[in-house]
Amino acid sequence: MAKLWKGRFKGGTNPLMEAYSESISYDRELAEVDIQGSLAHGKMLASVGLMSKKDYAAIRKGLGEVLNIIKSGKAKFDTADEDIHMSVEKMLIARVGEAAKRIHTARSRNDQVATDLRLWTRGKIDLIDSLIANVQRALVNLAAKNDKLVIPGYTHLQRAQPVLVAQHLLAYVEMFGRDRERLTDARKRVNRMPLGSGALAGTTLPIDRHMVMRELGFEALCENSMDGVSDRDFVIEVLAALSTLFIHLSRFSEDIILWSSSEWGLIKLDDAWSTGSSIMPQKRNPDLLELTRGKTGRVVGSLVSILMTVKGLPMTYNRDLQEDKEPIFDAVKQAEGALACIAGFVPTIKFEEKVAASMLVGGFLDATVLAEYLVEKGMPFRVAHGVSGRLVRHCEEKGLRLCEVDMKTMQAESKLIGKDIYKCLDPANTPKAYKSAGSAGHKEVGKAIRKWKARLK
Ligand code: ARG
Repeated sequence: MAKLWKGRFKGGTNPLMEAYSESISYDRELAEVDIQGSLAHGKMLASVGLMSKKDYAAIRKGLGEVLNIIKSGKAKFDTADEDIHMSVEKMLIARVGEAAKRIHTARSRNDQVATDLRLWTRGKIDLIDSLIANVQRALVNLAAKNDKLVIPGYTHLQRAQPVLVAQHLLAYVEMFGRDRERLTDARKRVNRMPLGSGALAGTTLPIDRHMVMRELGFEALCENSMDGVSDRDFVIEVLAALSTLFIHLSRFSEDIILWSSSEWGLIKLDDAWSTGSSIMPQKRNPDLLELTRGKTGRVVGSLVSILMTVKGLPMTYNRDLQEDKEPIFDAVKQAEGALACIAGFVPTIKFEEKVAASMLVGGFLDATVLAEYLVEKGMPFRVAHGVSGRLVRHCEEKGLRLCEVDMKTMQAESKLIGKDIYKCLDPANTPKAYKSAGSAGHKEVGKAIRKWKARLK
């Protein structure tokens, strides 16, 4: 197949080299935005007189046909055409003839591919933002549905203090909120247009970059032609945001895996979102969550991959940059899959309330509240910590809970302790007493649920 750049070459390309260097097997993902870019570029060429209106009309019609063929899946791509940009141009020339040979005026694949990838990434940021919002909504609804349920909160995976399960769920809503902020912030820098940078130096032809920028909905131009074709920091930024998103998804997955284990038994996995074992009939496995945890490694790998690709590249465009696409395509695909599944799974979570209640019994979850009780009676906290600690040791020796210690033993530790202590010493009640802003009890969690419901409307 004759190459569009064959002019200065005498011989053909080695087939091994052709197979090695092609990107058409994956960059066809950019077909739609590539055509969108060509439509805007062609319209501008016609407007500044670098192409006749008639030629542009033919090109516009031709690009529409090419788009339809590609969308229908009937396009036959040829590895000899290297990439989607060459393929679209060839298909266009095959349909439109001579006029189409003007579309690449004042354009290089270097500014074209950078523009395409920015357009594609911008669209995906918007999609992922809405998918994260769906997960947030599902979590807020689950929190609201279980807004009285108390579970142990953990530090070091040791029982620490009682919390509303809603607070635990809303912690993830906050994290996902920041993930959305990071993507939205990155979007501003994604949304700048390299087109018109040419191969690296711009062009002597009288193009109107601002017109193309407006046509394509970019907020600004890449203001330096060499920067425009060289950098992929927008890919790095988005992959960093997606990596952080996956770190959050992975931690959430880990929590659900623990909660659904036989050891915890706090939730039972819904049939639709779990899998069985080929040998052990009793199994109900949390594969969705394990895969999400596992795919996190792959997404972070994509971030590392683009970082290493760009590191040490001399200015400006180098073919290394073709390696920018698969990492971001894959990370976005994994994000779409994970977010859609998690949003579907979360509403099926049902808490075993009896198990939750039984988990509050051991672990002295009320030891901190006992110390705080003494602080309210005037004791310095460090002293109160000691009193509570000694009572815990007493309980451990006698096999008691704090609420089972008699008044005489309590008062031997501190005369400040009165009968009202017993009201404090039930972890199931503690969250009602949390007062501080953002705390894990009824008052603040209620506020947080209302805040998020309003934000996610
Ligand atoms: N497929 C190439 C890429 O993804 C397009 C740009 C090719 N430019 C070039 N000068 N060979 O980077």
